[in-house]
Amino acid sequence: MNNAPIGVFDSGMGGLSVWREIRKRLPHESLIYFGDGLHCPYGEKPAAEVVGYIDEAIRTLIAHDCKLIVLACNTATMTAVKYLRATYPLPFVGMEPAVKPAAATTETETIGVLATRASLGSDWFGELSGRYAAGVRVVTAVGEGFVEAVEADEEHTPATRRLVERAVAPLLAAGADRIVLGCTHYPFLADVIEEVIANPSVQLIDPAPAIARRVEWLLSQDGRLAEPTHVPELLFLSAAGAEYAEKLRRRATAL
Ligand code: DGL
Repeated sequence: MNNAPIGVFDSGMGGLSVWREIRKRLPHESLIYFGDGLHCPYGEKPAAEVVGYIDEAIRTLIAHDCKLIVLACNTATMTAVKYLRATYPLPFVGMEPAVKPAAATTETETIGVLATRASLGSDWFGELSGRYAAGVRVVTAVGEGFVEAVEADEEHTPATRRLVERAVAPLLAAGADRIVLGCTHYPFLADVIEEVIANPSVQLIDPAPAIARRVEWLLSQDGRLAEPTHVPELLFLSAAGAEYAEKLRRRATAL
């Protein structure tokens, strides 16, 4: 048993969609959430720049004695997980767009992937599609403005709905019946996306529950889950300062 915290990292608030699933599945674990906030969105920045921000945040989480770190950010995973695993001795759980389950279940042989520009443009994404979606048509769209809308708490404005309509239209026109939410900010727009799709046979796929199961499995493998009587501490940190960290805390508490 090990009561040390699990670190959860994202460029901003998006990773709270993963934090929520980890809390549900592992209610006795202490969690430290680091949302950069200062340099978000990562998806529009060059990889070399973003790696530096990620490294800084990860060093802070390690200084807080995290036993495992979840990169609750597809963009950060694709950009930095190889470097982080080669540099630091603790386990990292990364995230990638859930192409595999989407391709395995599509009935129209067409899947849609919504993700950041950086994720969709990465070699990693190309390999992922090649490996798991051979024979399936993969249609992609950047969620333009989605991250900014979630950061600004503007998920339910008419302007955000228009952004969603624009991003989703080509996926629906191509006949996709599975739409992968390939950025951890996007689940906060799931209700708007579903409303725009207006078709129950088109399913959204969010990998966050699978990530929580993976964390549980990894920790249980080497006996490092928290004790069942452990009262968890929940801490929120940010490169953007105390006010942003407080916003993270408030938002997490409301989930
Ligand atoms: N939430 C992040 C992801 O999963 C990235 C958003 C961003 O900073 O662009 O990709």
